[in-house]
Formats: sequence, C-alpha cells, structure tokens
Amino acid sequence: MHRLLVTGGAGFVGANFVRHVLERTDAHVIVLDKLTYAASPEALTDLPQGRVELVIGDVTDAALVDTLVGRLTGPDDGLVHFAAESHNDTSLRDPGLFVQTNVVGTFVLLEAARRHDVRLHHVSTDEVYGELSLEDPARFTEHTAYRPSSPYSATKAGADHLVRAWVRSFGVRATLSNCSNTYGPWQHVEKFVPRQVTTLLEGGRAKVYGTGEHVRDWIHAQDHASAVLAVLERGRIGETYLVGADGQASNLEVVRALLELLGRSADDVDHVADRAGHDLRYALDANKLRTELGWEPAHQDLRAGLAATIDWYREHRGWWAPKKGAVEAAYAERGQ
Ligand code: NAD
Ligand code: DAU
Repeated sequence: MHRLLVTGGAGFVGANFVRHVLERTDAHVIVLDKLTYAASPEALTDLPQGRVELVIGDVTDAALVDTLVGRLTGPDDGLVHFAAESHNDTSLRDPGLFVQTNVVGTFVLLEAARRHDVRLHHVSTDEVYGELSLEDPARFTEHTAYRPSSPYSATKAGADHLVRAWVRSFGVRATLSNCSNTYGPWQHVEKFVPRQVTTLLEGGRAKVYGTGEHVRDWIHAQDHASAVLAVLERGRIGETYLVGADGQASNLEVVRALLELLGRSADDVDHVADRAGHDLRYALDANKLRTELGWEPAHQDLRAGLAATIDWYREHRGWWAPKKGAVEAAYAERGQ
C-alpha cells in the first residue's frame, strides 16, 4: 500500500478524486484541507474505514505541511495538490485570499516536496490561457501562451510557473494538469451548474450572466479525477497535460438543456448582471493526454451527464439546501 497526500481533498474535484483513488488503487489517503465554506467533508464519510485520514489545516502552514510531506517515505508515495480558492466571482472581491492560498500555498508545498524529494502533481485550470473568441475555432494546447484574466486565474498561473521553475531549478519531480470546467456531484451551489440545478429544483428561474453566449468546455468530475490519476501514475516529470472531454457549450445552451430535462419552459431564464472581465470562451485540446497516457473520458454525452447531476442534487438536498440561502443572498446583493 502506498500513501497519497491530497490537499483540498474535501472540495469538489478533490473529493471526487479521493473517491476514485480508493476505488481504483490500494492507496492510503491523507487529506489536508482547511475546510473553508467550499469544503464537503460529508463527501468523505462513507469511504472505507482506515483508508482516509482528514487533517484539518492550511496549505500555507509550512510546519504542518513539512510534517505531512515527511510521512511520504515510500517509493510510490505522492502529493496531489487541489487546494485552492476556486471561484472567479469571489476573487474579484477578495483577491488577497487567492494570492495566499493559490500562490503561497503552492510555494509551501513545493518547498516541502523539494526537501523530502516527494513526487507532486499540481492541479490547475484552462483559465490560465485566457479567453478565446467565439468565432475562431482555435482551442488551447499545452503550447498556448499564458494570458490569465481574473485574480483567480492569475494566481493559478502564478502557481503553475512556480511548479515549472521548481522542476527546472531544483529537480522537483512534478507534473501539471490544466482542466476545463468540471461538473458533477459535490460541487458547491455557488458554481454555475449546481446553482441553476438547485434554483430550478426550488421552483426559481435560471440566472445567466449577461447574454449567456459565453462558452465553457464541460467535463464530468469523475473524468477530471481519472485524468489526474493517469498523470500521477504515468505522466512524464515536468510535463503539462490538458484535461477536457470535448464538451463545449454556451451557458444558455446548458441552461436550456437543464430546463428541458426538468420539464420547465425555455423562457424561465433571467439575464442578470455580468461578471467583470468575463472570459468569452474556453476550449481545449486533450490529445496529448489521450494519445500519450491512453486516457478517455467515461462521460462523453453532456446532456446525459447533466441529467445524472440533476438526479444527484435531487437526492442530496439535505447537503446543499443549508448553503443555498446565503449564496443566493450574496448574488442578489450584486444584482446576479
Ligand atoms: P473547491 O472550491 O470546491 O474546493 C477547494 C478545497 O480546497 C476546499 O475543500 C477548501 O476547503 C480547500 N482549501 C481552500 N483553501 C485552503 C487552504 N488554504 N488550505 C487547505 N485547504 C484549502 O474547488 P474545486 O472546484 O474542487 O477545485 C479544486 C482544484 O481544481 C483547484 O485547484 C482548481 O483550480 C482546480 N480546477 C477546478 C475546476 C472546476 O471546474 N471546478 C476546473 C479546473 C481546475
Ligand atoms: O475553466 C475551469 C474553471 O471553471 C475552474 O478553474 C474554476 O475553478 C471553476 O469555478 C470554473 O470557472 P468559471 O468561472 O468558468 O465557472 P463558474 O461556474 O463560476 O461559471 C461558469 C460560467 O457560467 C461563466 O461563464 C459564468 C457563468 N455564470 C455563472 C454563475 C455562477 C452564469 O451565467 N450564472 C451564474 O449564476
């Protein structure tokens, strides 16, 4: 049995990753998570006893991180770094928090990985490449220049640069993945898909920023998780792998699919205040991951994935309902 330290393992993608790892490997998983508002420790409670350990703490706490990384002494042990402040809208109001967690936190982990010579996988986002136009069919590749737009994506870009520098300058054994918009179980109700699903389940109207023409490249959380495991197990040190499932759709198209799946009128949409600096389109080419590591997404049909996600939120009302009121009150204050 080997050990994996997973930062942010109580968050949306991190928890889906922990669940995937426990199903697919015999690893013992140590989750380091600060349990911010975005965390769902509930996502870890039904897992096999003795195989998951939750340590509540901050990735910027160098002493704690050093102790935990120091436990990774086996040849196949590793560190997977999900922990981040992840919401673009929040980064517009409190950018300092994003610099601390996303940049300083990654620095602290890199220094510990360097001291203890532990392999590290850094989880990042396609947003570091900035926006694409709606007309141009181009997609991001691993060679696209960095051009982040928001405080969130700028701090993720900064973290990516640190990881690359630590590989080159100090020989840290690290890999990176930059994934597109992820949806599925355990995503916080502040994010686009769960916000619409839960609002519609409560009988409300969908809330689309601006025109709704903005395009995202959707991938299911289980596929994001399987891609991260593939890179951790088979990726080449120092390499970046883009992760996506050819799921481009405009926000209005996603909302219309949700309305139809829920038997609602296509007109049940409010166009609300737009996000400052809102990126128009993200789309990526995951060919390197597919051809080099043989990875394939299990969820290839976005509409089917959305239908399953609606079912999941219907069955987990007790988890999301207590969070919903405060999130909607904050959006209402901003005209969103
Ligand atoms: P999330 O906000 O749902 O979860 C983040 C987790 O990190 C939470 O459990 C939170 O408690 C924890 N955390 C935050 N600050 C911390 C700190 N200082 N110390 C320790 N733990 C801390 O985020 P997510 O959507 O699961 O994203 C996880 C990672 O995946 C992030 O690095 C994000 O940039 C990346 N990513 C997400 C998506 C997406 O669409 N969700 C797509 C591409 C990449
Ligand atoms: O591309 C990967 C990124 O995807 C991740 O790095 C981020 O962590 C993750 O939050 C996500 O970023 P986005 O900003 O694209 O996701 P969000 O869910 O906030 O919004 C998706 C799109 O929907 C975006 O165009 C804004 C829009 N939107 C969002 C909300 C919450 C709406 O139209 N209405 C809404 O209510």
